[in-house]
Amino acid sequence: EKLGDVAFERGNGGEVHQLAGGDVPTLTTQQGVPVADDQNTLKAGERGPSLLEDQIFREKIFKFDHERIPERVVHARGYGVHGYFENYEPLSDVTSADLFQRAGEKTPVFVRFSTVAGNKGSGDLARDVRGFAVKFYTREGNWDIVGNNIPIFFIQDAIKFPDLIHAAKQEPDRGFPQAQTAHDNFWDYMSLTPEAMAMVMWIMSDRTIPRSFRFMEGFGIHTFRFINAKGKSTFVKFHWKPKQGMQSVVWNEALKINGADPDFHRRDLWDAIQMGDYPEWELGFQLFDEDFADKFDFDVLDPTKIIPEEILPVKRVGKMVLDRCVDNFFAETEQVAFHTANLVPGVDHTNDPLLQGRNFSYLDTQLKRLGSPNFTHIPVNAPRNANVCNFQQDGHMAMTNPKGRANYEPNSWGGEMGGPRENPERGFRSHPTEIGGEKRRLRAESFSDHYSQARQFYVSQTEVEQGHMALALTFELSKVETPAIRSRVVSHLLNIDEELAKKVAKGLRLETMPAPAPAARPTKMDLAKSPALSILMN
Ligand code: HEM
Repeated sequence: EKLGDVAFERGNGGEVHQLAGGDVPTLTTQQGVPVADDQNTLKAGERGPSLLEDQIFREKIFKFDHERIPERVVHARGYGVHGYFENYEPLSDVTSADLFQRAGEKTPVFVRFSTVAGNKGSGDLARDVRGFAVKFYTREGNWDIVGNNIPIFFIQDAIKFPDLIHAAKQEPDRGFPQAQTAHDNFWDYMSLTPEAMAMVMWIMSDRTIPRSFRFMEGFGIHTFRFINAKGKSTFVKFHWKPKQGMQSVVWNEALKINGADPDFHRRDLWDAIQMGDYPEWELGFQLFDEDFADKFDFDVLDPTKIIPEEILPVKRVGKMVLDRCVDNFFAETEQVAFHTANLVPGVDHTNDPLLQGRNFSYLDTQLKRLGSPNFTHIPVNAPRNANVCNFQQDGHMAMTNPKGRANYEPNSWGGEMGGPRENPERGFRSHPTEIGGEKRRLRAESFSDHYSQARQFYVSQTEVEQGHMALALTFELSKVETPAIRSRVVSHLLNIDEELAKKVAKGLRLETMPAPAPAARPTKMDLAKSPALSILMN
């Protein structure tokens, strides 16, 4: 008998045994031992018991028992695809990064889009920030831009990240809600974190319910540095502009879609790529120097701030095309490890305190999540266009130990036997930033205006969009049971836009209007006329 092309026999219990032969490969164990019967354990006698000596059964169940790895502590739900980045023009005046040196140069990329707060099995249409992480496999090593679809972040300092995430995820006693901003803990934390107010405005906007991954922007958020061959440094902020345009759904639609198909976003991306409708983004830079940075009365190292594009236009430097789905979701999407400290020569960090903390966190969490310091040997994480050549060795699952006798340097073995050596010309160099001052645990004064950009974002929205924001705030806060928390959020809104605060207070049926929240620095209220320019000091 045949099932498709494959011959099969029935066992004495009617079970189906599909048979190897011809083009049909033989089923084996992990040791490569051919398997004769994959449907029955080895038993003593006709009716058991099963025997411990059945190595074929034991190996199969052992592998199965260990299939799960911890999900990401944040951004657990995501979807990864392959593609390439194509550079438009040589950019050697600003950076020596190899991928930007030649017009038309193509660099392979792997991209993972994600939600932040929901668990791995949560629905795609949650009101949440979306992760937008890109790994470039450049000829001088892997470079990651680990960004989001919103250009700013909730907090200014990485020490606050565990609290932010605890407050956003399910509450610890009841284990819900899984992936919603509508709960007391979330709004309690937000209302006690004035620096989050600009981001609160963004997450209450339509941006946090994108129609699909293909219709959203991406941002590197932090200010980074580029360095050119002469050692000159230029600050840079990274932007991804979707060629498809930007589209979102309204909450009512999001609820229905999530109910009908919680995989809507991943299915959309899979379908588009399978049909050859490849999504594209342009990579853009906002480039500036120290003098330009000094003109702002906010700090360019503060990740809760944007530099308005009206003041500093985004220079589009190349396009990214996503044209290939993964062969295996676990091997690639689950095991990919992005890291803000995966930088290549020509790109460098700045002192943004959120970025500095991230530079510790990713490696640390990935050791736990992937189980071995050798997770860089997994194909999706291994450099594809650069050689890996060093004296690092051993550990769980080591697959690329150094060859030959030398596993240290300097050494006196010559030629190939001596192994790789340093390269001062091409090697990674940090920008020699001057650092001084007292060791202290204080927030810089320049980080203390929490409301002006929140207002700037709100007034930049159309009337319809502003209406959606008022509805979103009212709806989300209506799920908050504690009146004091609702009031506290409204007290912040009063520093952002009085009309908005009144609308939300009315929607929530607040009995008394709270006083505006104490502000370290007053909001610049005249933003409506010239939102961008009025945040400049000079
Ligand atoms: C994961 C973005 C802040 C810790 C991620 C991912 C993205 C992302 C996109 C998912 C990567 C993937 O798809 O595999 C951001 C952005 C931030 C930010 C844009 C702020 C600008 C932070 C901070 C910390 C942190 C402050 C900790 C101090 C983590 C951890 C993971 C993660 C532990 C899980 C990584 C893994 O398991 O591979 N982040 N994040 N993030 N982020 Fe962040």
